[in-house]
Amino acid sequence: MSAGDGEWQVAARKRGKGRTTHRNTRRAAFLEESAEGPIRSTGSSLSIPDVRADHERACKAWRESHAAEKLQTIISDNVAHHAAIETAVCLGLGSFDPGPERSNWQRCAHVQLEAFLMAVKVLEKHSGRKIKCYAQEPLFLPVDKEYLQTLDVEPVETPQAYRYISGNTFLYGIHLPHKVWLSLLQGSLPGLCIGTSLAGLEETLVVADEQKRELIQKIIGMVRVMDAASDMYAFPEIAGDHTFSSTDIYWAKAKDGGGDVEMKRLEMLLHRTEL
Ligand SMILES: C[S@@+](CC[C@H](N)C(=O)[O-])C[C@H]1O[C@@H](n2cnc3c(N)ncnc32)[C@H](O)[C@@H]1O
Repeated sequence: MSAGDGEWQVAARKRGKGRTTHRNTRRAAFLEESAEGPIRSTGSSLSIPDVRADHERACKAWRESHAAEKLQTIISDNVAHHAAIETAVCLGLGSFDPGPERSNWQRCAHVQLEAFLMAVKVLEKHSGRKIKCYAQEPLFLPVDKEYLQTLDVEPVETPQAYRYISGNTFLYGIHLPHKVWLSLLQGSLPGLCIGTSLAGLEETLVVADEQKRELIQKIIGMVRVMDAASDMYAFPEIAGDHTFSSTDIYWAKAKDGGGDVEMKRLEMLLHRTEL
């Protein structure tokens, strides 16, 4: 979602661990609303060819960007020494038909899907194996689900996707509501995770009320556990485009297919490290 669209603000930051340019945090209230009761459109007039055409239009520039190239390089350069991925779970894309007033949401859904598919393709190319892909989004309309199926991505009802997360899963969720992150990370930690950065979470913490602080602190604890067992890469961004703002890539350093992350989590729990 682009900044300045009137719906929510995103935190812009310089690349690199923990560095922020300003504290222009997205509206926490919006995220909470998304977690509890997203606005659901009842139907779509779009056909599958319409959605496909929208996808091509929305993604052309991003697909050809340095950011897309960099994303592929990060994955291909690191695949050999990190958790092997067998399953990919994509969460919170939004609908490809969010209504006439919401073109920024539509673009985000398409571009974020494109990045997910691109990452999966690079992983598959290197492993020589097909990765089973799932997508979960409470806002999905029948047309969204049908479109995803044409791309070999299986749409699942919320919260079914949580059960697919393990040390060999690629978990992908851009700007997910905090409650969703907490549910996701409370189970097994993923081998590869593209999601909200620690810096983004820490910025949100500054403006959160007491109740939300507790929630965000728990997520920060879990992301730190993931961070300790992983290598982190800032998600490549295009200046002025906030589609992937406050997003990092965590990839478990794997000697044993991603089990390191789970081991680290158990160790920290045993030593009563704050989660
Ligand atoms: C802040 S919006 C982000 C949308 C989009 N990724 C973006 O960056 O513009 C959060 C999205 O998460 C979705 N969401 C809420 N609960 C979810 C859940 N349990 N599983 C998957 N998605 C969920 C919402 O419907 C909403 O589309």
